[in-house]
Amino acid sequence: MAPLMEQEGVYKVAVIGSGNWGSVATKIIASNTIKQSVFHDDVRMWVFEETLPTGEKLSETINKNHENCKYLPGIYLGSNVVADPDLENTVKDADMLVFVTPHLYIKGICKRLAGKIKPEAKAISLIKGMEVKKEGSCMISKLITEVLGINCCVLMGANIANEIAEEKLSEATIGYREDQEVANRWLQLFATPYFLVSIVEDIEGVELCGTLKNVVALAAGLVDGLEMGHNTKAAIMRIGFKEMRAFSQLLFPSVKDSTFFESCGVADLIATCFGGRNRKVAEAFARNRGKRSFNELEEGVLQGQKLQGVLTAQELFEVLIDRGWEDQFPFFITVHKICTMQFPPRSILQCSSSVHNSTQLEF
Ligand SMILES: NC(=O)c1ccc[n+]([C@@H]2O[C@H](COP(=O)([O-])OP(=O)(O)OC[C@H]3O[C@@H](n4cnc5c(N)ncnc54)[C@H](O)[C@@H]3O)[C@@H](O)[C@H]2O)c1
Repeated sequence: MAPLMEQEGVYKVAVIGSGNWGSVATKIIASNTIKQSVFHDDVRMWVFEETLPTGEKLSETINKNHENCKYLPGIYLGSNVVADPDLENTVKDADMLVFVTPHLYIKGICKRLAGKIKPEAKAISLIKGMEVKKEGSCMISKLITEVLGINCCVLMGANIANEIAEEKLSEATIGYREDQEVANRWLQLFATPYFLVSIVEDIEGVELCGTLKNVVALAAGLVDGLEMGHNTKAAIMRIGFKEMRAFSQLLFPSVKDSTFFESCGVADLIATCFGGRNRKVAEAFARNRGKRSFNELEEGVLQGQKLQGVLTAQELFEVLIDRGWEDQFPFFITVHKICTMQFPPRSILQCSSSVHNSTQLEF
């Protein structure tokens, strides 16, 4: 328990990240902090500063209009959201830190924050991805805990940001380790009548679901681009889901089967394979017959938003090679080889039929 926070009776919240999901998460949080006396009304949001075509700074326009015109245009964030381009200033008084940046930036951000946050602060990661190190893979929540020395939960789910911005009903899962009281505090901060949140004591399972489904979504997009139809897409999703579960439980034997049936599991997989940005760019890749790279398409199709799946497929590939598990995960390996243009897009179909033939006796 943190005595200072108890005396004041309020928790101050800071959000690190202000992209598409970062802005939506901030809007949800701001609507809750203003209603619940346990939280300080203001929510400070770190903005990776950009100059807009009008010459204005992004953080200034957010504070003036209460809207992120670049990453979430047309949505009111709340007058209690304070955009701050200064990372250290954003976090210095915060008791609750919400990390929501593309995963490639998180390590640098954590290093900048080490020693600059309240020691009793708690964190939650909304980031999908993992870090690959020589010693093995490291989940983002673990990286945050290791670098900052604080407890870190995760929140994942079938959460396409723009739909939640319009307050369309959706669900999410908070994963925690041991400290249920902290998980409940996060639930209080995030849950709304249109954003239904549950908690699960399986942090690795929740985080791996959120991370790996982006790789399956790339395969789903390839199938869309190849115009193969719903049955093929369902087959691809099933095979991908199976590899997601097998990989998660090989890496962390504690990962529970039941986690895959929470919002972070099968629901997120379905949402991402039908509506997400990884699917969209992979579809464009297949339609171009693999002749334009993912990097090139990402810039054209996403306009500043970041694709997570291709980098995750690369990281996953490195873990599989490092552990000698490549023969057990032909689907993941094939997605990576397609993304790096070593295989043509159609090879996802050949791979899936060979996986099916070699594993059907298991069913
Ligand atoms: N968008 C969604 O629907 C969604 C849903 C669930 C989870 N997520 C996850 O949320 C995380 C953040 O995604 P997002 O959608 O908020 O971001 P985004 O892809 O919309 O935007 C990219 C963000 O990165 C920032 N950025 C660019 N260069 C940077 C740098 N050098 N250092 C730090 N920041 C930099 C940009 O300013 C912008 O805020 C990702 O891990 C993503 O997988 C996204």
